[in-house]
Parts: sequence; C-alpha cells; structure tokens
Amino acid sequence: MEVVQSIAQMREIRRQLALTPEATVGFVPTMGALHKGHGRLIQRALNTASLVVVSSFVNPLQFNDPRDLARYPRTPSQDHDICNKLGVNYFFEPPAEDIYPPGFLTTVNVSRLANRLEGASRPGHFRGVCTVVAKLFNIVQPHFAFFGHKDAQQLVLIRHMVRDLAFDIEIVGVPTERDKNGLALSSRNQLLDDEQRQKALCLNRALRRVHFLAKKQGITHCGELLQAVRSAINSAGEGVELDYAAIVSRTTLEDLSHIERGNTLVLVAARVGGIRLIDSTRL
Ligand code: PAF
Repeated sequence: MEVVQSIAQMREIRRQLALTPEATVGFVPTMGALHKGHGRLIQRALNTASLVVVSSFVNPLQFNDPRDLARYPRTPSQDHDICNKLGVNYFFEPPAEDIYPPGFLTTVNVSRLANRLEGASRPGHFRGVCTVVAKLFNIVQPHFAFFGHKDAQQLVLIRHMVRDLAFDIEIVGVPTERDKNGLALSSRNQLLDDEQRQKALCLNRALRRVHFLAKKQGITHCGELLQAVRSAINSAGEGVELDYAAIVSRTTLEDLSHIERGNTLVLVAARVGGIRLIDSTRL
C-alpha cells in the first residue's frame, strides 16, 4: 500500500492509472479511526473495483462544535495497518492546507436536504461533508464511491449532489456493521465507557422495535411508530438524551405520515454521556 500525502501526488497517481483504461478505481472516504464498519466498506470496494483508494481526513468544516473536533479519535498508524492488511492500494491523507488553502471560499450546499435532522442539530455539517467529498471526488476521480447506510442522510445528500453536479461516479451504499449486541459501529464508540456502551444499545433497540411493530404487527402510522422510538430511548435512563427521531422518505427526506414500503428511513440521534450517536434503518 502506498501512503499519499499531497493532492499533487494523488493527482499524479490518478494520471498514471488513467493510462490503463481497464483499471477501475473504488474510493472509500473516511475521517480515520477505522473500525470494522470501514472494513466492510473497503471490502466491498475491493470486490467491486480493481484498485482501491481510502482517504483519511478529519474535516474541520463539518464540525460545528470545536470540542467535538478536538476529541474526535485519531489513530493513523492503526489505520495504515488495517488498510495494508485488507489490500488497499492507496491511503490518501492530505494535509489540511491542501484541502483548505488560504482564501478557500467555495462550498457545496445541497440546500433543502442539508438543513433537516442532522443538519438542524449540527448547522453547516452537510455543507462541510459535501464540500470535502466533492473535492476528494475531483482529486481521486473514482468510478465507484462507498458510503455506509448508518449515516443515512449523508448517503441521500451525496447521491443528490452527484446527480445535481453530474459527477460520473457510482455511489454504493453499504449496510451498517454492528457489534454482537447490535450497537452500530462508529468511531465515536471509542469515546464511550462500558456503562455508556450498554446504554447506547437503546438506539438499536428502538429501531428493532419499529421493525417489529411495522413488520409483525402491521402498524404503518408513523406517529405511533415514532412514539415507540421515543419511549425506547427515554427509558434508557440517566445520561441518555434523544436529539431527534424521524420517519422520512428515502428520496426526499420529507416526513411521512404512513410507511411507504421500500421508501422509508427511520432515523434516530441521541446523546449518550454527551457523545452524539446516530443510527438508522430502512423499512
Ligand atoms: O462519513 C464520514 O466519515 C465523513 O462524513 C466523510 C464522508 C468521510 C466526509 O468527511
């Protein structure tokens, strides 16, 4: 695996790859602190493309809270080892001054979709995500890019951006990886102690409850289903605070009054001991 530390070097590699027309490039953008969830994205990329680029960049533009940015886990040498073992070809870790040079002014905003849910709780978050992803897409020029289902709103926005701005990239959504207790894997889980980790299981419990009510009991009314999500989170006890629970269309992110089979996303965000966690499921 080659570690690439500047845009200029990554561009040169991409130019050379273009000389082999049958090569296809799969791209997994990350903020580092890799876990098995990233492993699943990378594995899918390795199975899809002939060459795989993983990027690692903790993107300051997508953090609205400086404390959250400061405590975001960083494990660079472990990340190199994981990617090396998996068979990644290029590990791209650009310096911040390459991504945001002095005088940087241009941002990408998938307007209406960016201001709801995560965007309402974290103003500017998706402007940061879409700006950095668009820039990375321009540098890496992948044929395929891989994103997890857990960050469901992010996936909807990236698909929309790719369509609106005519990026010639296939976006591949990859199912959420969970630990043996059902907790969705996230770099932020590293910040939880054992008790908080137990309490964090309420997010998955809430989503499983919705699945049960919708699939086994035939409940389609979203108000009723949301009530079940709220009570599962609220009954988790001290230190757990629900941020939002929503049942929305997978394409427009608009609230639904009743489930539309195959087009429904259930999203939940909560703070557990001050650590913000999200999870989602499809119906
Ligand atoms: O999902 C993430 O880790 C980040 O939002 C991404 C897509 C790497 C952009 O910084």
